[in-house]
Formats: sequence, C-alpha cells, structure tokens
Amino acid sequence: MHLVGVTGGIAAYKTAELVRLFVRDEKEVRVVMTPGAARFVAPLTFQTLTGSPALLEQFTATAGERVRHIDLALSARVFVIAPATANTIGKMAAGVADNLLTTIYLAARCPVILVPSMNDQMYQHPAVQENLVRLRERGCLIMEPAGGELACGSSGKGRMPEPPQIAEFVRTALREKDFRGIRALVTAGPTREPLDPVRFISNRSTGLMGYALARALTGRGADVILVSGPTALPRPAGVELIPVETARQMHAAVMKSVEGCDLVIKAAAVGDYCPAVTAEQKLKKDGCEALIRLQPNPDILEELGKNKGKRILVGFAMETERALEHAQEKLRRKNLDLIVLNDLNVPGAGFGTPTNQVCLIDREGEVAELPLMSKDSLAHRLLDRIRPLLSGP
Ligand code: C5P
Repeated sequence: MHLVGVTGGIAAYKTAELVRLFVRDEKEVRVVMTPGAARFVAPLTFQTLTGSPALLEQFTATAGERVRHIDLALSARVFVIAPATANTIGKMAAGVADNLLTTIYLAARCPVILVPSMNDQMYQHPAVQENLVRLRERGCLIMEPAGGELACGSSGKGRMPEPPQIAEFVRTALREKDFRGIRALVTAGPTREPLDPVRFISNRSTGLMGYALARALTGRGADVILVSGPTALPRPAGVELIPVETARQMHAAVMKSVEGCDLVIKAAAVGDYCPAVTAEQKLKKDGCEALIRLQPNPDILEELGKNKGKRILVGFAMETERALEHAQEKLRRKNLDLIVLNDLNVPGAGFGTPTNQVCLIDREGEVAELPLMSKDSLAHRLLDRIRPLLSGP
C-alpha cells in the first residue's frame, strides 16, 4: 500500500495527479491529510481517486480498525508526504504528533519520502534546512524542490516537482539495488557531423532509450556515466553526464571513461560517416550540383569488442530489412553479449516514441521478442536480462 500524506500548501492540488499515478502502480493507495490540506483540496477528491476515504481525524476508529495510525503506518510500503510544508517538516523533526499525519510518521517503519514545497525564502531558512538535515539523518528521503515561479508571485527554489517526477523518484527509492557496485557506461542520442559552422548530418535519435537506461541503472544502484549526443532531455539525477556532438568526440569520451566499467550499453545512434572536410565558413550556394565526400567514423563498439575482457557489451541495432540476420551478424562482428534489435516497421517503436518494441539476441543465438512497452519499462526488462551476465556482487 502507498500511503500519501498531504499537508496544507497550495501544491496540494498537484497531489491529486500524483495519487492518480500511484493508483496505476499500486493496488492500494491511501491518503492522509492535515486539516490545513483539507482547506486546499477536498478529501472527496482523494476518496474518488483511491476508492477509500481520505483520513483526517486522529481520534476516531471505524469497525474492524484497531488503532488507526498504527494500522496505516504498519501496512504502508512507503509513506510519501507531498507537499511537505515547513510546519509539518518542523513537527516531524521535533517528534510532535498533533494530527493523524504526524502521528503516523512516528509509527511508520517503511521508507518515508518528503517532497518539501514552500516559498523559496522559507525553504532557505536555517530552521527548515536544519530540520531537513535531521530528518535525512533519520533516514527520510527528501526530494529537492524545483525552481521557478511560485504561487506567492516570487520565483526561486521551492516549487513541488511535477507528479511524474515524484512518482519516478518513489519508484526508484523502492527498487531493489541489484546493480550496486556496478560501473556502467551508457551512450545515448544522435551524433552531429558538421558540414560547416551552420549545418550538420544527423539522425532521428532523441536519446529517450539511452536516458531511460541511465535512469534505470542509477535507480538500481549502479554508478553511471552517460555519454550523450545533443538531446532535449533533462540530465538524469545522479548520473555523470558527458555531452558530445560528433562520433569522434563520442569515441574519445567513451575510450577515456570506459576503464573500470563493468558494463557498456551503446544506445546512441552514432553517425557512420562524417564529411571529409568541414568548411570553416558557411558554404555558399552557387546553383550547381554539390557533392559531399564522406569518410567513415570509428566504430566505437567494434573497438570495445576487440578489448572486451570481462566487460559486458550491449549494442542496439536498427534495421529496415532482414533485421534478425543483420543483428546477429553485428553481435558476432562487434563481439557483443547482447544486441537489442529495434524494428522500425512496428508502430510505436524506434525513434522519438515513448514506447519501443524490441528483440533481444544473445551470444547463444537465443532470440526473445518483447511486447510493445514504455522505454522506461523496457530499460528495466533489459537490465533484468543483463544482470545475470555480470559477475561480482
Ligand atoms: O553498425 P551499427 O551502427 O548498426 O551498430 C549499432 C550499434 O553499434 C549501436 O549500439 C551503436 O551505438 C554502435 N555504434 C558505435 N560506433 C559506430 C556506429 C555504431 O559504437 N560508429
């Protein structure tokens, strides 16, 4: 059961959306509100979303319940307090139990996640910061507020992060850390091969798959280096990001960082060729036919395959014809442990979509076809397949 605590801040309206997301992940979701929260959002909103009454009253028990706060505290898998106001944070730090929410906190033995949300000046106040330090020391997980426009009209760090980000933070916190002690290098995104200072040759990769893998790996306890071509995606928390532009830059960054890595996942769509010359000035049109001479880029993965040692190498393949045959040939030539074959012909798979459908092919030639799923889910399915290949912890 996910237990959600709502306190009296304006961001409480966003918690309704968060609860809706939790209901998708978890069979039972319960909501406990402070009296202040109930002035911002009606308990009925949460009751409708969860199918159970939102709890407010400390001193009532209905039939079948023993002591309400103990029951709730013991059956929760996680207690997420969003938004967490300065007032509730202060009470939790001091051990005050003057309402159902703060009482449950003292009885809870599950992971407790706080999502502070308040005016930026309040958030920066030493009283609040010291309380957060105390709570962190006692094992609470605290999600940093986001920056930006605040309800009070000022702007700064204090906004409650968006519900999907909070849901992801909670999922990560609850996940088994089965990649702890593993150092992984992931590449993502397209490369850009410049023709002149203005133009480049690139491809349709958006980096979604590689970033999902980097997030999934960190969530499962790995140390992650993400070498990324240009993308519009936010830097995943806890990841060492090395931004690059060209295939040659990606090659240099990978070769420099790969030492000490147990796992390399190459999800980047690396340009196979680059212009033989990059013009220093913008190329002018003269109405004539133009030819661009291309030269091959280094194949990063093939080079890693030659010096594989104990490292696990995973590649991606995107084929438009005789897909399986080509992917198997690539796995052998690049000396990979696993290749992930994207099928461009499936709607919802491949570049730029939030979903993907792939086939996994291993060294023994075993082919596993996975159904269409979100790139985040796929990242975890891939990691489930990779984990037994890694030796060590
Ligand atoms: O040969 P192809 O580009 O189809 O192989 C795809 C796999 O090889 C991907 O994992 C990609 O990241 C990697 N690759 C590479 N260096 C290149 C080209 C592809 O590492 N120059």
